[in-house]
Amino acid sequence: MREKLLYTAQVKALIDKVAGLDNAEGDQRLKKIVARVVTDLMQTIEDFDVSPTEFWAAASYLEKVGMSHEMGLLIPGLGLEHFLDLRMDQEERAAGLIGGTPRTIEGPLYIEGAPLSKGEARLDQDPETGEVLFMDGQVKDAAGKPVAGAIVDVWHANTAGWYSHFDQSQTPFNLRRRIETDEDGRYKFRSMLPAGYGVPPDGPTNELLAAIGRHGKRPAHIHFFVSAPGYRKLTTQINIDGDPLLHDDFAFATRDELIPAITHHTDPAEINARGLNEPFATITFDFTMHKEAADLPKAVVERAHAA
Ligand code: DHB
Ligand code: FE
Repeated sequence: MREKLLYTAQVKALIDKVAGLDNAEGDQRLKKIVARVVTDLMQTIEDFDVSPTEFWAAASYLEKVGMSHEMGLLIPGLGLEHFLDLRMDQEERAAGLIGGTPRTIEGPLYIEGAPLSKGEARLDQDPETGEVLFMDGQVKDAAGKPVAGAIVDVWHANTAGWYSHFDQSQTPFNLRRRIETDEDGRYKFRSMLPAGYGVPPDGPTNELLAAIGRHGKRPAHIHFFVSAPGYRKLTTQINIDGDPLLHDDFAFATRDELIPAITHHTDPAEINARGLNEPFATITFDFTMHKEAADLPKAVVERAHAA
């Protein structure tokens, strides 16, 4: 067995210098985190006998992830965005917050400033073939009281699995809207049932996933931010029930409480009554929000968005 360099005085002194632990300047918490990350990396190199060639391949890989703007894809793929959710859940439980609609990951594809309307909206503005979806529900507080004036910020992929803004073939804000709940806390929208999503097949995220025997696909889903003055912001998604990948999401975002029943309507009279010619789907889903309070962990996650 080779001697563990990591435990030698020489490498310990190196890490202290690297992390600035041998001086009094800078941010003390950051120094400790830098020291830990560098130490863990050195330990990985040592334990797995990582060669310099392998190490530089990993460095190039990370550079490629950044240059491809795939940090936001790799992080959920590595389960880290879900882990952050689990930690926020744990903190809330410790603060006595229980129940309510579960959070799940935001993902990298939100765009700020979608058109805002009262009570209802139509999300699909570009022509598409697929199944029309009508979704509705109520925003309530933990006691079941409707929350009027809440903003339901909704975004999802098109019937091919692509998101507007990132997919230049769609018009701006296609399948992205903000809906203000009415006096009964209700929202509703018309859209097209999304297809599942897959990471770019030729990108670095998929490269790593393939190399470890994984896929980069997500079941069909619809994202939501729900916010209202005095309430804790909710970041969540619903899954489209029946998707074969429902419990095989590369981003680990599926939660049992977030799989509402979907009804596929084929009755010609119902189709006619909606002014349609084809079968359509309906989903009803209520959101339960918690009241904000000073002693609770922060609900808002600050994060840079594409613009
Ligand atoms: C990714 C894509 C999504 O649509 C999503 O909701 C979460 C993650 C991704 O590409 O990583
Ligand atoms: Fe998504």
